Amino acid sequence: MQSLINVSNRLPVIVADTITPSAGGLVSALEGFHADYDFQWIGWAGATEDDPEMRKRISRELQERFGYTPLFLSQEDVSDFYTGFSNSSLWPLLHYLPSYARFNRRWFDAYINVNGAFAQTVAGRVRTGNVIWIHDYHLMLLPGLLREQRPDLKIGFFFHTPFPSYEIFRCHPNRRELLEGLLGADLIGFHTSDYVRHFRSTVQRVLGLTSEINTIIAESHTVSIGVYPISIPSEKFEAEMESEAYRSHLNDYRRIYEGKKIVLNVERLDYTKGVPRRLDAIERFLIDSGRRDVVFIFISVPSRESVAAYRDLRRDIESKVSKINGELSTIENAPIHFIHQAVEFSQLCALYSLADAAMVTPLIDGMNLVAKEYVICRQNNDGVLILSEFAGAAQELPQAIIVNPYNIEQMAHAIRQALEMPAQEREKRMASMRRRVQRYNAQRWARSFIEDLTSIPEAQRRPAIALSLSPEMLAPLLSQERWALFLDYDGTLAELRRDPDEAYPDPALADLFEALQKRPNLEVYVISGRTRQDMGRWLGDFDFHLVAEHGFYFKHRNAREWVQFESHVDLSWKERVADILVHYADQTPGSFVEEKTASVAWHYRSADPEFGAWKAHQLVIELQEMLSNLPVEINHGSKIVEINSILINKGVLMQHMKTLNRYDRVLCAGDDVTDESMFRAAGERDISIKVGGGETAASYRVASPGALRRLLSNSLEI
Ligand code: UDP
Ligand code: G6P
Repeated sequence: MQSLINVSNRLPVIVADTITPSAGGLVSALEGFHADYDFQWIGWAGATEDDPEMRKRISRELQERFGYTPLFLSQEDVSDFYTGFSNSSLWPLLHYLPSYARFNRRWFDAYINVNGAFAQTVAGRVRTGNVIWIHDYHLMLLPGLLREQRPDLKIGFFFHTPFPSYEIFRCHPNRRELLEGLLGADLIGFHTSDYVRHFRSTVQRVLGLTSEINTIIAESHTVSIGVYPISIPSEKFEAEMESEAYRSHLNDYRRIYEGKKIVLNVERLDYTKGVPRRLDAIERFLIDSGRRDVVFIFISVPSRESVAAYRDLRRDIESKVSKINGELSTIENAPIHFIHQAVEFSQLCALYSLADAAMVTPLIDGMNLVAKEYVICRQNNDGVLILSEFAGAAQELPQAIIVNPYNIEQMAHAIRQALEMPAQEREKRMASMRRRVQRYNAQRWARSFIEDLTSIPEAQRRPAIALSLSPEMLAPLLSQERWALFLDYDGTLAELRRDPDEAYPDPALADLFEALQKRPNLEVYVISGRTRQDMGRWLGDFDFHLVAEHGFYFKHRNAREWVQFESHVDLSWKERVADILVHYADQTPGSFVEEKTASVAWHYRSADPEFGAWKAHQLVIELQEMLSNLPVEINHGSKIVEINSILINKGVLMQHMKTLNRYDRVLCAGDDVTDESMFRAAGERDISIKVGGGETAASYRVASPGALRRLLSNSLEI
C-alpha cells in the first residue's frame, strides 16, 4: 500500500501524564485516507521530555495507538524555533503585522536545525515514491531539505496562514532561504487566490523566477501552486448534535441565558483575531442601543503564552472587559462573559447552536474555521454570522454580514443589524452558507489536495529543460576536425546580472577559457550584443575572436583593431528610436537605455517584473508601428528590447566566417532571441545549443550558463 506521510509542527495529541488525542479539523480531514494509504503522521509531541526512557515510552505509545512518530524538542528549541522564529518572526509577518515581528539570527539557526531534524525523521521512515504532505509556516525549509535527500518523494506543502503581499514578506531577513526551502515542494496550496497571487509576486521579485498562473519554474523542477480552501468535518458536528452530552449542555445553557440574546465569540487568544477592537464595537453598541438583554460570550482559548505580545494582549483584553462590565452591567446582566479556557466539543456545539449571532472579526485570518463551524451548527438555518472581510472564509461566505474590523461604528451597527434581522432574511442567508460548508467539507479539501499532488506528472518533477547533450557525446566530436565555437556571452557563458558591469568572467569561466585556448583545432568567437569596450576589457587577453554589437564589429584574435563588419548600414532611425526609449526609461524606474553604434537597447532587468514586462510589450507595439517601413529589427529578448539594423545579426556573421575560414563544423550557443539567427544558420553537422527555456530553433538545450560551462569543460577534459 502507498504511504501518505503527514508532517506538521504539532502532533494532534496532548502529552501529559496520559496521552489524549486532540481532534482538530486536520485529523478528521485526513481520516478518509486511512483506508487507501498506509497513513503516518510525524510531528512534535508538544512536550520537552529529556529523559530517554520516557521518550521511548511516549514514542512507543504514540506509534502503537495512533501510528504517529514524535519528535522531541529541547527547551532551547522550543524557545528559539517555536516561540522565537515561528511565532515571533513568521506569524506576525504572515499576518501583515510587522510591528509585532522580532528577528534574531539564533532563532533562524534553530529553525534550520529543527527543520533538519524533521527532514531526518521523515527520511528515516519513507520508501521510494512516497507522498509527503507538510503543513504550515513552522516547516518552510523542510520541502527543500527533503528534496535534496530524496528527489523521488512527492512533496506537498499547505499554508494554513495567509500569504502576505511582497511588500510585507520582503521585510524578513531570511526571505530568500525560506522561499527556496518551500520551492522544494511539488505542490504548494493556499486558502485563497489572493494568497497565491502574493506568493507568485514574492517569488518573482525575491528569487527572480518565472511563474505562470499556477506554476513556478524552479531550477530542479516545476512547482504547482493552487487554491484549496480548508473546511471543517461537517458530519462530525452534525453527529455531535445528536449526542446526549450536547442536548444536556444545550438545555442547561437555555435555562441560564433565558430571556437574553447571545452573541458568541470563539478564538485562540491571538492579536490577529481583533478582540480589542471588537470590544470597542461592543461597548459602542451597548451605549448607543441602550440594550441590557444581550450577553457576549467569549471562549478565548489560551495560546502561545511564552510570547510576550500574547501576554500583553491578554492583559489588555482583561482590562477592557472589566471596564465594560463595570460600566454597563445591571443587577440582571453582565454584558461580557469572558472565559479564558478551552471548552469541550459538546459544549462548543451547544454554544454554536444556541447563539443568536456569532462575531468572527479577525484583523486577518488565513481561513477561520469558527465561522464555518457556527454555520454548520445552525441546523434550523437561523442565527447570523458577522464576519470580517479579512478572514479567508469571507470569500466563501459572502452572505454573512461582512465587516471591516477596523471600523468600530460599522461593527457596532452590524451587531444591531444581526439582532434585528427578520427571520426570513436570516434563513435565506444561513441556508446558502450551510450548503457551501456541507458540500465542500474538510474531507473534500484534503482529497482535492492529495489528488492534485499525486497526479503531478513525472516530467514536471524534473528540470523544465532536459539536458540532452552530454560530455560523453560532445568530447569525441570536439577532439577531431576543425571547429569554430560561436558563444554568446551574457546569459550563455556568464549568468545574467542586474548590473551588466558585474558580469565579468569569474574564475570558473576563466578556467574554461584557458582550456579552450589550449585546443588547436578549436577557434572561439565570443559573440555578443555588448559594446567593443566591454568585450575588449574583459576578453581582450584571451586568444579569441571577438564580435560586438551582434555582429556589427569584429576583432580577429591576432588583430589589435576592431573592424566594421558591414560598412553600408543605414542608421538614420537611431536617434528617433533612442528618444522613445529614453521616454520609456523615464516612465519605468530601474530601466535604462544603452546606445551602441548600430543599435539601441532598453534594459528593464532591474524594473518591477510585472510593470517592466507590461511597458516592454507597449514599447514593442509602438515601435512596430513606427518602424514598419524601415530596415530595422526589433528584438524583445530577456529583459531587453533592442533595435538594430536588419543587415546585422549574429547568424549572418557566423555564416560568413564559416565560409571564409572553411571550418569543418560549428558549435553555437546562446540564450536569447538574438542568438536564434545563429541557430537558424547552423548546418546539419553543426551543433546549436539553447541555454534556458523558451522556444528555439537550436537542436540542443542546457539549463543554465553553469550547465553550459560544465558541459564544455567536461568535454575538453575527457
Ligand atoms: N476550538 C477548540 N476548543 C475551544 C474553542 C475552539 O478546539 O474551546 C477550535 C475551533 O473549533 C476551531 C479552532 O479551535 O476548529 C480554531 O480554528 P480557527 O481556524 O478559527 O483559528 P486558528 O486557531 O487556527 O487561528
Ligand atoms: C494556527 C496555525 C497552526 C497552529 C495553530 C495553533 O491555526 O496555522 O499551525 O497549530 O494555530 O497554534 P499553536 O502555536 O498552539 O500550535
